[in-house]
Amino acid sequence: MPGSRPVALVTGGGSGIGLASAEALARAGHDVTIVGRRPAALAEAAAQVRAAAREATVLVAPADVGARDEVEGAFAATLSTFGRLDVFVGAAAALHTANFRDLTIEGWDEMVDVVLRGSAMCAMAATRHFVQAGGGRVIFIGSISASVSDFELAHYCAAKAGVHALARSMAVDLASANIWVNVVAPGWVNTPMIGEYVDSLEAGVLLAMNPQGRAARPAEIADVVRFLAVDAPPFLTGSTITVDGGQTVMNHLLPG
Ligand SMILES: NC(=O)c1ccc[n+]([C@@H]2O[C@H](COP(=O)([O-])OP(=O)(O)OC[C@H]3O[C@@H](n4cnc5c(N)ncnc54)[C@H](O)[C@@H]3O)[C@@H](O)[C@H]2O)c1
Repeated sequence: MPGSRPVALVTGGGSGIGLASAEALARAGHDVTIVGRRPAALAEAAAQVRAAAREATVLVAPADVGARDEVEGAFAATLSTFGRLDVFVGAAAALHTANFRDLTIEGWDEMVDVVLRGSAMCAMAATRHFVQAGGGRVIFIGSISASVSDFELAHYCAAKAGVHALARSMAVDLASANIWVNVVAPGWVNTPMIGEYVDSLEAGVLLAMNPQGRAARPAEIADVVRFLAVDAPPFLTGSTITVDGGQTVMNHLLPG
């Protein structure tokens, strides 16, 4: 029997933006499945989500988003535990850098398998359920890297651009099934992925790169995820919401 609370499944839910999104959705009344590769980190993350929203039930589903059986298992566990699924948030990714002249096809495959193929495989599992259930919401964590480049990130930028294109195509194919698909595209966010790098930059350098002179807090990205999951009107689909503090619309002359 489906429960009365809406249910969200969040990949990459063991840390950073995924964890903050799981917390925000739990606070907004969802039960949550958090998916990731590291059981110990997931258990800690689940405790954090439960502390943030005591009424929420949190299911931990260890899975590699690149592994088909594990992805299917995480969705099956969610449906057998909660009896429903309303929201899929795809946040899993890992960052490794390589100048294109040194990038190997193995490094390319490793990135694309997680970021693009993993997003698509999870979205397919979510879609199969949403079509049967009469609708649902898909929210991908994309990146400003889908449209602007950083050094040594050709494979990451290409994979994220693929995720943005995937979301647009899904929105078109799935609108008639009441499935709304959007992307949140963060700029820099203070998470384990790049927090150390951002912390190492001097204030002047940060200001030269971002008009707010800082990285986002994960909760600032999660607020937009919650909006797309809970408040956004059905007509908002196929969109990308950039959350970068103004970084990608800024020219590079400093004030004064
Ligand atoms: N931090 C930033 O500045 C930033 C900027 C733009 C976009 N993003 C995107 O936000 C999302 C979340 O990243 P984050 O910044 O919170 O970093 P993070 O490292 O805290 O989170 C990524 C999570 O994905 C998990 N993961 C990695 N590979 C996986 C796999 N194969 N299967 C399942 N889980 C896997 C990791 O264990 C980790 O918990 C990513 O998609 C990232 O590309 C981050």
